[in-house]
Amino acid sequence: MIEKIVKFRRVASTQDTAKRFVHEQRELAVMALSQNMGRGRQGRIWFSPKGGLYVSLLLFPKKRLTSIPLLASLSVIKTLENLGFSKLLINWPNDVVLNNRKICGVVCERSGDAVICGIGLNVNVDGFGPRLISATSLSLEAGRDFDVDEILERLIDRFNELYDELQQKGLRVKEVLNYIAGLGEPVEVITAKEVIKGTVSDIDDDWALLLRDESGIVRKFYYGDVRRLQW
Ligand code: BTN
Repeated sequence: MIEKIVKFRRVASTQDTAKRFVHEQRELAVMALSQNMGRGRQGRIWFSPKGGLYVSLLLFPKKRLTSIPLLASLSVIKTLENLGFSKLLINWPNDVVLNNRKICGVVCERSGDAVICGIGLNVNVDGFGPRLISATSLSLEAGRDFDVDEILERLIDRFNELYDELQQKGLRVKEVLNYIAGLGEPVEVITAKEVIKGTVSDIDDDWALLLRDESGIVRKFYYGDVRRLQW
């Protein structure tokens, strides 16, 4: 349960700043107004100018929780729905897309017994440059700015509710399934080792993605990127 938010003006990456709190053995959130070395999954850079929301959740999950990235994405979706946004989907495992454009990325890293779950949400970001043509922000979509602190508080509340539910009784996977982009559609799952074409068939009780590959075999993925082949 996250009860404390530690705020910084500018850091290299909130992921690294959060690591400095691991020894406190207490769940908390570290946020920054901007980052100069924000990072995404697979060594990608996360564009982190002022106006975005950059937060890392320092967690000590009681069980082996493969679901933390999905939980973070679901918390973002619930927060944004509450602000009046719709057409939000999760690009498994952990990107949130709004009108098919990426609005939020999640990266989870381990540090000893801790999991550091970083969430980057494009709030008041008005331009992304040519390399990020498929990105969007809340301000671009709504034509107005938002209060980043208020969004952060709502996001932490939603996360706490879901995290608690998950640890107490196991969250219903079905709830997430409603938001998975590409369910039943042809996709490619891209891992560090291979690219496999198939159809997304389900999310199982481990919160892994089940893909029916082209030869009809159902394969299970905990990590990877899903690219939809048809929209
Ligand atoms: C991705 O889409 O690849 C994940 C992006 C995660 C970005 C967030 S911003 C807060 C935290 N600090 C970082 O350096 N990265 C994560």
